[in-house]
Amino acid sequence: MIIANEADLAGMKKVSDAVALTLKEMRAYARPGMSTKELDNYGGLLLEKFGAKSAPYLTYKFPGHTCISINNEVCHGIPSTDNIIQEGDLLNIDVSAELAGFWSDNGGSFIVGQDIHKQANLVDTSREILKKAINAIKGGVKINEIGGLIENEAKKNGYKVIKNLGGHGIGRSLHEQPDGVLNYRDRLDQRRFRKNTVVAIETFITTDSSWAVELPDGFTLVGDKGGFSVQHEHTIMVTDGLPIILTEQNGIWD
Ligand code: CO
Ligand code: CO
Repeated sequence: MIIANEADLAGMKKVSDAVALTLKEMRAYARPGMSTKELDNYGGLLLEKFGAKSAPYLTYKFPGHTCISINNEVCHGIPSTDNIIQEGDLLNIDVSAELAGFWSDNGGSFIVGQDIHKQANLVDTSREILKKAINAIKGGVKINEIGGLIENEAKKNGYKVIKNLGGHGIGRSLHEQPDGVLNYRDRLDQRRFRKNTVVAIETFITTDSSWAVELPDGFTLVGDKGGFSVQHEHTIMVTDGLPIILTEQNGIWD
């Protein structure tokens, strides 16, 4: 959406606070031995407390309040009582919701407990790449320039990017134009970021995979070559200078 007035901005701030604080609290709540369903139920209660409704449920009838993806799962993992979080897991929680007609989206990967798989660098690199990408966005910047930045930074650190997933416009629904804010430079893409638009920017950084493949459950996406996959996401408003980070309260950069 394009932010046209103060009421639009206030509405986006309110729903963004809801998803950001839900993500932050869920992260603090996650423990080894807990099922992803239990973690998701906690997230569902938090969203309800804010008066927000799960965006993936509203949009896709997703069987959960939030998406929780572990290790080789890239995104859209379905919360389940069978999925028990283990010490050292790379856990990704993605929280998106609707509140009073406004929609916001954010996500973050982190290591549960001890870094058994020695992947702290992957997580930190992804967080830093998202920061660099967002700081480079302003009105007039080419969308594929940001994709190129994300891929170059990943490669420089010995990692890969997922090529068939990306960020997206958001605001009056979960996915709006510009769609396909990719993690690499698509040479055919001539679009530019526009001032006052709301966009969800997300990284998909991996150790081995470049393509996300859907499992038979119809939702969970896993890397085509296995390994570990992490994601970090903020919803921002594009300006003439540094973007306004609407979901900054999630603390993924702290
Ligand atoms: Co998301
Ligand atoms: Co998103």
